[in-house]
Amino acid sequence: MRKLIDRLEQNHSLEKEEWIALISSESEKEYLFARARIASRKYYGNHVYARGLIEFTNYCRNNCYYCGIRHDNRNAARYRLSEEEILQCCENGYRIGFRTFVLQGGEDVYYTDERMVRLITKIKSLYPDCALTLSIGERPKESYKKFHDSGADRYLLRHETAVDPHYRMLHPEELTLRSRMDCLWNLKEAGFQVGCGFMAGSPGQTAECLAEDMLFITKFKPQMVGVGPFIPHHDTPFAGKTAGTLGQTLYMIGLLRLLKPDLLIPATTALGTICENGRELGILAGANVIMPNLSPKENRKKYELYDNKLCAGDEAAESFQHLKSRLDKIGYRFAEGRGDPAEGLGGMKCTT
Ligand code: 5AD
Repeated sequence: MRKLIDRLEQNHSLEKEEWIALISSESEKEYLFARARIASRKYYGNHVYARGLIEFTNYCRNNCYYCGIRHDNRNAARYRLSEEEILQCCENGYRIGFRTFVLQGGEDVYYTDERMVRLITKIKSLYPDCALTLSIGERPKESYKKFHDSGADRYLLRHETAVDPHYRMLHPEELTLRSRMDCLWNLKEAGFQVGCGFMAGSPGQTAECLAEDMLFITKFKPQMVGVGPFIPHHDTPFAGKTAGTLGQTLYMIGLLRLLKPDLLIPATTALGTICENGRELGILAGANVIMPNLSPKENRKKYELYDNKLCAGDEAAESFQHLKSRLDKIGYRFAEGRGDPAEGLGGMKCTT
């Protein structure tokens, strides 16, 4: 396995069968993580990027089988932040030091293109030194263009799985892998820095599925890839399914770091949910982004994608201090500024 890991590190690609072998084995974990830390250090030093997450609506028209805010979950308490509330989150975040805001929500029909454009324009005019990331699902190509034209910089849309029959197991028939992939390519074409991603251990996932995820990422060349463990939510069709593991999630993070050393890889909230120090372990496996929650305290619990989702009750600023000291303990620190990808700089960007 070491040979395969070394080959991945050198060539930044593997054949499908090699991916399957490497993904099924997980035998050289510590070696993989050590190489991944070195790769990440080359581009990013000991820096971790902070992104302020604003979960601005949990209304969703979709019915993904895994997700707690799916349309048919009658028990979900729905909320939608107003423009003023969203701007207040940005204000608080800016004061704490965040220079990227991530507007994440369900596919909420209230947030039309016009409303989104208004919001984007407002935020970018108030915070011209900040990057704005959107994560609001599938929209027509023209909408993506409008969002980018109004100043949004980045877009997160997980592909969830690169294998059609697996996509069919996770979603009802009106959602297709074809349409998801089209959206991702359209986002690129519109000029966004794009993030895709998948859950580790989602029901029906095999090593072959994960190999296809890696091959898709090799071809698509996203700026960010989000991977978190699947965690069942009690009010979904997947309530009784087994959760993904910490081990497999970390292993995939390590592989991603070697596949694309300049990649932005978040240590996700889901990782912090299945394990108390999951996010630290994510950083030590090669991740370099953390996305603390800037949403108002009273809404956080309602954005329940999965059971027991981490939503520290303390004020955002207080949590941020806490997070800083946790990073400090493992030898990392938050970078200042927007935290754009180190792409194309041949590992010369970070000199610390
Ligand atoms: N467990 C883990 N991750 C989930 N997501 C949605 N539901 C779950 C769950 N039950 C992830 C999906 C989605 C992102 C917003 O959250 O990958 O794209």
